[in-house]
Amino acid sequence: MSRGFEQASLLATPLLTIFVGSRVVMYEEVESTNDRAIHLGGDGTVIIADRQTAGRGRHGRTWDSKPGLGLWFSIAFESPVDGLAFAAPLAVRDAVKPHCECTVKWPNDVLIGGRKFCGILVESRNARTALGIGINVRHSPEDFPPELREKATSVEAVAGHEVDRGVLLRDVLTELDHRIMVLRQGGIEAVRREWVDSCAIVGRRVRCGAKVGVVKDVSLEGGLVLETESGVQHLLLGEVVELDGA
Ligand code: BTN
Repeated sequence: MSRGFEQASLLATPLLTIFVGSRVVMYEEVESTNDRAIHLGGDGTVIIADRQTAGRGRHGRTWDSKPGLGLWFSIAFESPVDGLAFAAPLAVRDAVKPHCECTVKWPNDVLIGGRKFCGILVESRNARTALGIGINVRHSPEDFPPELREKATSVEAVAGHEVDRGVLLRDVLTELDHRIMVLRQGGIEAVRREWVDSCAIVGRRVRCGAKVGVVKDVSLEGGLVLETESGVQHLLLGEVVELDGA
């Protein structure tokens, strides 16, 4: 059952940001907050929905977005900002830190104890960009579809205490604002470096789809630079499996 969206706590705690949250629009239900962000636009506009009826993940997958359980939101950009896919997972990681430790994983997932609780989807259309973030906050295992129960988790499931979604949202937006300001001031290399260091993927032997190799680097575009038997390959999408232990 939905415990309702804690709008009061979000609105009661002011957003002390420069760019993110220039406007905040909340919905009970939308198809996808990314679509709504691209439709509405406005630099820094935040679109939040308690439920998405057509939440999207990468590779055209569905993103399970039940009401009362998670944070499903997007930020609109009127011009592209390089490095969002590095900045967003770091912002989520730091905002979640008071509750539990988490790690970032290529291309832009955030995991707790090896299980995914946050996915990020950057999409551009009609000269606008939407940075979409989905965070599982209050899910119990049975709230996930059976096929995800071994792979997914939520902040509350790991933290073992209640987490106010409004406060967590504010903290993510604040962290994100800080990193977007760094990106807009030309600091993409610093953000990329922080992401690469946190991800600890460089030097690992991995499988990504049919390709096996050692990760040499992650490019500014977020691509995996993989040294395979047939030479160096640049991969932009895929699911990475580490082959030499964590
Ligand atoms: C992934 O890991 O595959 C990315 C998932 C991204 C989900 C978020 S929820 C808010 C925003 N709206 C969407 O339709 N998708 C993103």
